[in-house]
Amino acid sequence: MRRNRHTPAEINTGEAHSARVYDYILGGKSNYEADRAAGDAMVQAWPSLPVHMRANRAFMHRAGAYLAREKGVRQFLDIGTGLPTPPNLHEVVQEVEPTARIVYVDNDPIVLNYAEALLTSGRQGQTAYVEADMREPEEIVNSPEFQETLTLNEPVALMIIGILHFIHTSDDDHGLVRRLLDPLPPGSYLAATIGTADFAPKEVGQVAALYESEGMPMQLRDHSEALTFFDGLELIEPGVVQAHHWRPNPGDQPIDDRDVAMYGGVARKP
Ligand SMILES: C[S@@+](CC[C@H](N)C(=O)[O-])C[C@H]1O[C@@H](n2cnc3c(N)ncnc32)[C@H](O)[C@@H]1O
Repeated sequence: MRRNRHTPAEINTGEAHSARVYDYILGGKSNYEADRAAGDAMVQAWPSLPVHMRANRAFMHRAGAYLAREKGVRQFLDIGTGLPTPPNLHEVVQEVEPTARIVYVDNDPIVLNYAEALLTSGRQGQTAYVEADMREPEEIVNSPEFQETLTLNEPVALMIIGILHFIHTSDDDHGLVRRLLDPLPPGSYLAATIGTADFAPKEVGQVAALYESEGMPMQLRDHSEALTFFDGLELIEPGVVQAHHWRPNPGDQPIDDRDVAMYGGVARKP
């Protein structure tokens, strides 16, 4: 990580930001008054929002552990990492595979300021952080941090969790995912979650309207649209399902489908 920390002026704490609203709702401390006010309004519109966000985060943990344990993946590229929230991806996958290497990417300046907590790799593995925008995939793949941490001679798991609802068709959403996957060798994986209003349309629509009013317009997708992100890839069972239905751990508490506005899936690049 070569860039300097950002000053408060650069971080713009006066406006809500998705990473900090997510942090606030997950019970974190890296947020400001504007984030808390926005978060409170969203939870008022949809009281299930914290359940939904925890289900998204838990999908990331299960998908990462599954890929390390069952598929032997030792390299991870995590786009839209968010503020550090234990356990972070490297903590989950290095528990299974201590040599795992992880490149974290986010475009929120505040995430860079807290990134030390993502750079706590175990001695056998490695972690790096890149401040970059998913809409510029080549900047990510060509970054020194990517090049020094990951090798393209071995499969990489591309993790795009809890961010695609901020990436719109007008951004060339599918093209961006393809440009991130293209350089990765066969046998690599895509793990993604995709926001949807399929299960609580009114409430989730209200939350989306609040994000939009805070300058963070969202694109929600139905199941067939969620599936298209995995076109050309080999989906792992059970396919693209609501995040909490993707390979739940034995003993996980049951969650009402109306409380989760996120599809999740994992697929292999042939
Ligand atoms: C809801 S958080 C998800 C955090 C984590 N991936 C998880 O699922 O627990 C979304 C993150 O995506 C980041 N993000 C949004 N748009 C982005 C973009 N265009 N490029 C990179 N990161 C972005 C935000 O800054 C935020 O940290």
